[in-house]
Amino acid sequence: MQDILRRLEEKRTAARLGGGEQRIAAQHAKGKLTARERIDILFDPDTFEEWDMFVEHRATDFGIDAQKIPGDGVVTGHGLINGRTVFAFSQDFTVFGGSLSETHAEKICKIMDKAMQVGAPVIGLNDSGGARIQEGVASLAGYAEVFQRNVLASGVVPQISMVMGPCAGGAVYSPAMTDFIFMVKDSSYMFVTGPDVVKTVTQESVTQEELGGAVTHTTKSGVADLAFENDVEALLQLRRFMDFLPSSNRGKAPVRPTSDPVNRPELSLDTLAPTNANKPYDMRELITKVADEGDFFEIAPTWAKNILVGFVRLDGHPVGIVANQPMVLAGCLDIDSARKAARFVRFCDCFNIPIVTFVDVPGFLPGTAQEYGGIIKHGAKLLYAFAEATVPKVTIITRKAYGGAYDVMSSKHLRGDVNYAWPSAEIAVMGPKGAVEIIFRADMNDPQKIEARTEEYREKFANPFVASGRGYIDDIILPRDTRARLCCSLAMLRDKALSNPWKKHDNIPL
Ligand code: HXC
Repeated sequence: MQDILRRLEEKRTAARLGGGEQRIAAQHAKGKLTARERIDILFDPDTFEEWDMFVEHRATDFGIDAQKIPGDGVVTGHGLINGRTVFAFSQDFTVFGGSLSETHAEKICKIMDKAMQVGAPVIGLNDSGGARIQEGVASLAGYAEVFQRNVLASGVVPQISMVMGPCAGGAVYSPAMTDFIFMVKDSSYMFVTGPDVVKTVTQESVTQEELGGAVTHTTKSGVADLAFENDVEALLQLRRFMDFLPSSNRGKAPVRPTSDPVNRPELSLDTLAPTNANKPYDMRELITKVADEGDFFEIAPTWAKNILVGFVRLDGHPVGIVANQPMVLAGCLDIDSARKAARFVRFCDCFNIPIVTFVDVPGFLPGTAQEYGGIIKHGAKLLYAFAEATVPKVTIITRKAYGGAYDVMSSKHLRGDVNYAWPSAEIAVMGPKGAVEIIFRADMNDPQKIEARTEEYREKFANPFVASGRGYIDDIILPRDTRARLCCSLAMLRDKALSNPWKKHDNIPL
């Protein structure tokens, strides 16, 4: 017995040491924490239970059988984040570069299977050189086993990837199928083929950071949702983020009691939208002013900036926000903003998070770049996402709601539950000038007539009355009352029950 306990302790010590002091020092020298240090920050103190600490690889080729490190390059298990169960794997770059072997994959699959059974989120801390080269196809099989589980878990439990080191080749497809990808600046990168292959094939010279660093993916490609300065900030923000999510599709997100009064008036909102409809204003100000304690966890703030998405709490309940941003491209919808918002809306709908939509949209962005890039299909994604969503949906039109974009932005016609307009709302097929130029083209060389027609059109549509007269808008509210009205509507909708017709699955335009 004593002997077993001694050997157990030896094995635990070996596992904790990973690839050894030297490699740990190298990891630290790169500004990175080790797999276990990351777990310690992510979970509530002393709550993480590690599984499969003694698992070792079974490979024999290329002399690898002489090197066995308990745990095989990944720390897996479960613990509590702010008191709720979460499963996680944390790849250990100090062991074979965090590369994925058959057994490494089995460990990840084990926690994913259990997370789905118990209904708890899965967090992956990725830091890996990819497929364990010595294992060949067994490692590729391991990846595919993880991919399969990513798909089965999608929409069942939240899956979050925090990329904290290399993530290259086919390995990128596991994070790609999770709900959110976060990255750490300067130490993480993701690409399908690295700079050397790019150079050979396309003659482009590009660094790792330029090709697939955190800044690239949060500004250019939109692959990642947030970029953090370092490991500690990333993990602490991830803890904050988890509080907005339910544990699974069977539950609701946790409620956090607030001292912020639900009927708090916000007088400054009365002058937020300038009377000149061509003047921009910051929609982010509206979001933070209605949110509990001004707390807005924004997703993808540096990509597709013409739309804002993220989480707030209203009366303590987490809510997903989608909002046009008049400060960028006048708040137009384009390919990237439609994709960004569609994915966010679908996430909220999967996980029972109500959606509040703030609308100030002059339409879809015109141009060959948009048409050739497939704005028809991409715009349809957002329309589809709002239309299929059955969670509570509350919409507020603050100013422009023109054309197809009016329909798309969680309109009454797409089963919007409560649709409000501010007095400054303009709901029409297009803006007055454009409309008159088309329907009164014959009068174009008579400026007086055109001016009169424009005024007539403005009088008719540049207000919320026609839409509210038809019941497309439930009420016209004062901007200052926005928080109170939202809280009231969401409380009324809390037990909303609505389902879509049975189908195997839908066929969203991809
Ligand atoms: C086995 C690996 C490894 C791998 C790194 N190591 N990657 N061992 N399989 N894939 C080992 C190294 O031998 C080294 O061991 C240690 O990890 C640290 O690696 P270094 O190269 O010293 O670190 P660094 O200079 O920081 O470079 C990191 C790296 C580089 C850029 C990730 O290691 C690298 O290019 N690795 C290979 C990447 C790759 O081609 N992977 C396969 C991709 S294909 P020692 O003992 O010296 O410490 C793929 C397919 C997935 O992943 C398909 C899914 C469908």
